[in-house]
Amino acid sequence: MNEIQVQLYTGSRAQLRPLFELAEDSESQLDSYLDAGRILVARQGSEVIGHLQLVDTGQPGQVEIKNMAVREDRQGRGVGARLVRAAVELAAAEHNTTLLVATAAADIGNLRFYQRQGFRMRTVERDAFTPATGYPPGSHIDGIELRDRVWLDHLLTAPSAD
Ligand SMILES: CC(C)(COP(=O)(O)OP(=O)(O)OC[C@H]1O[C@@H](n2cnc3c(N)ncnc32)[C@H](O)[C@@H]1OP(=O)(O)O)[C@@H](O)C(=O)NCCC(=O)NCCS
Repeated sequence: MNEIQVQLYTGSRAQLRPLFELAEDSESQLDSYLDAGRILVARQGSEVIGHLQLVDTGQPGQVEIKNMAVREDRQGRGVGARLVRAAVELAAAEHNTTLLVATAAADIGNLRFYQRQGFRMRTVERDAFTPATGYPPGSHIDGIELRDRVWLDHLLTAPSAD
């Protein structure tokens, strides 16, 4: 099997939309940020099997993972961890101090995933996922109503000079 490589993506964003949709339930939200920032992709041969979108937050030294996903048939094999590691390295190399990510409080799996990658809980934004912000009413994840957003952060250390 071909080796997995993580690299910056320069192709069409529209082609990545199905992957973005794995991580975003709101079409209108996705439309608003699909073209933002930079994207790291995990490739196996010519196929893109995962992506991670890195955007500026407007705060100096802070960048955010806005959206990331691994193709369903390739999840659970370390590809997501590789993408996060590459984002941490890129953000640190550019002298940022904090990498942020937000996910649904209801998504226990994602909360586990990000904490396994070194993120810590930062804040909770209540009622972030509502019809007013583009999310279908009455959605549930793991039997928990989709309502609140949790922000997590990963502090970055500057790469050594040598
Ligand atoms: C979340 C996601 C990107 C993780 O990618 P992945 O390639 O499956 O993750 P990895 O194989 O690198 O997993 C790394 C660790 O996180 C854990 N993990 C990943 N997804 C998990 C889940 N849903 N539930 C529990 N643990 C999970 C793995 O078990 C592994 O744990 P370990 O270190 O104890 O072995 C992927 O599952 C995905 O695309 N999900 C759907 C889209 C999504 O929700 N994206 C995040 C939006 S904020």
